[in-house]
Amino acid sequence: MDYFLVRKKFLEYFERQGHRVVSSSSLLPDDPSVLLTTAGVQQFKKYYTGELDPMRDFGGRRVASAQKCFRTSDIDEVGDDTHLTFFEMLGNFSFGDYLKEESIRFGYEFIVKELGVDVSRIEVSVFEGTDGVPRDEESFRIWREEMGIPEERIHFSGMEDNFWGPTGKNGPCGPTTEIYVDGIEVWNIVFNQFFCSGSREELLSGKASLENLSSPGVDTGMGLERLVTIINAKKSVYEVGPLQKIAEEIGGEVTEEREQRMIADHLRSALFLISDGVMPSNKEVGYVLRRLIRRVLARERKIPYEKIFEQIEGIYKGLYDLRAHEAFQVLTKERGKFEKSLGKGLREMASIMKIGAKEAFRLYESYGLSYEVIKDRGEGRLAFTRAEFDAEMEKHREVSKAGMEKKFGGHGLILDTGELKAGSEEEVKKVTRLHTATHLLQAALREVLGPEVKQAGSDITSERLRFDYAAPRKLTEEELRQVETWVRNMVSEDLLVSYEEMPIEEAKRTGALYFFKEKYPERVKVYYVGKSLDEAISKEFCGGPHVTHTGEVGEFQIVKDEAVGAGIRRIRAVVK
Ligand code: ALA
Repeated sequence: MDYFLVRKKFLEYFERQGHRVVSSSSLLPDDPSVLLTTAGVQQFKKYYTGELDPMRDFGGRRVASAQKCFRTSDIDEVGDDTHLTFFEMLGNFSFGDYLKEESIRFGYEFIVKELGVDVSRIEVSVFEGTDGVPRDEESFRIWREEMGIPEERIHFSGMEDNFWGPTGKNGPCGPTTEIYVDGIEVWNIVFNQFFCSGSREELLSGKASLENLSSPGVDTGMGLERLVTIINAKKSVYEVGPLQKIAEEIGGEVTEEREQRMIADHLRSALFLISDGVMPSNKEVGYVLRRLIRRVLARERKIPYEKIFEQIEGIYKGLYDLRAHEAFQVLTKERGKFEKSLGKGLREMASIMKIGAKEAFRLYESYGLSYEVIKDRGEGRLAFTRAEFDAEMEKHREVSKAGMEKKFGGHGLILDTGELKAGSEEEVKKVTRLHTATHLLQAALREVLGPEVKQAGSDITSERLRFDYAAPRKLTEEELRQVETWVRNMVSEDLLVSYEEMPIEEAKRTGALYFFKEKYPERVKVYYVGKSLDEAISKEFCGGPHVTHTGEVGEFQIVKDEAVGAGIRRIRAVVK
């Protein structure tokens, strides 16, 4: 089923259920604590708090929308099968009107009857409860008794997965129920019951409180690109809808598929941002746009940009007012600046006699000279290795990410390795325990499923670990328990955790695991768990930090195992 047909069916379906269809709001939200619009609910926050009256503005208490959204958090992953910066989110909203019964029925009916998805492909999740917010027995009952979803396909989970919001520095939030198709989450239904006095981060760390909302209701969100991919049994969001067309158009010019997709995503996003009035700059949203454009320009100068922008404008005609011509002008001007900056950078470089990692990084940061250009042009004067250059980059990433976090109402980060993030000493301790738990988890999965298990990603916050892995098949409940028990046993043995540093080739010969996607420096640390490297039960290339004995990890618990893509699964686990 075509992308735009699904979109149309969604809005028409909700119109039939008494909803007013509201246009997408701008990508620049009317909320200074948030940089960009990341969800459909953002434009409606004030209808839940009672500050605005939906009767006056919409003539009713039910609305639906297809909202343009932008998320920067996964920008480095864009071009794989699942990540995008820009996407459309479908949503239906109730402001003090219907609650669980109807929103669940609408969700079920739309997926099964309107889209024709076989019920056997559906699983759902429900909030398991936390201090002060009870387990959602009502949703469980509705799914089981009224929708007829068998009990074993209804999963309970906690704050991390089944409690949404708030966005920005405070706002509406609440428990959720989610619909999965073929193991992939497609629809998030939020029961907005509370107003949270602080940000999500503050809520999770116990620093914000919840109050009942004056107009409790429902907020739902379903990523359109992802939905269309799944119902058409495709592997990638770049194989459906507008992105497929754009990537195809670029295809003739760029051969590498991942680059093609990245450029398609970035050009579409740039066009949408520019059409909402964003200009490239060194600050906030302007900087996001500048980065998108320069990432494209750094790789590809020969693309017929004007034609591609026009094509994107054509694809969305009648839905969004896109300004292809203006986008092309902005890009051309930015290209001029970028090239001038490169020229300046090369001149500056010519005047440096000995280029160390710090100077190289400055040339990159201030003028956009890439590592490759510096290497090519600096022959004989270079005094740094790739690893040292990367280390400088990493330091900078931490600082700029911390800046972004601040903007989102959080506090500055003191640890961000890309995998682990922590904002205080206390959080560093927690993510360190979770980090060691991640190594044990990987070892346990290989123990139970075999050595075909390969790490595909890892992300650790002070709340939980998230481990993506490629596996030949799904684990049974029984096997998952075995994995959990294996980790717990290793924790209770209080094994030594230590590392040795050595040249990369030697490290590979130890049999230590390493993450194939990663570029490693010439010397690496091999972290191992056990008396010695030879007798270790886990060895991995890793920069740390880790606890010194597994006993410090504490009580390990797997909270979820789900599919996130073809052959890739994701485990979330916590330590107590
Ligand atoms: N606001 C919810 C989300 O973005 C529906 O997932």
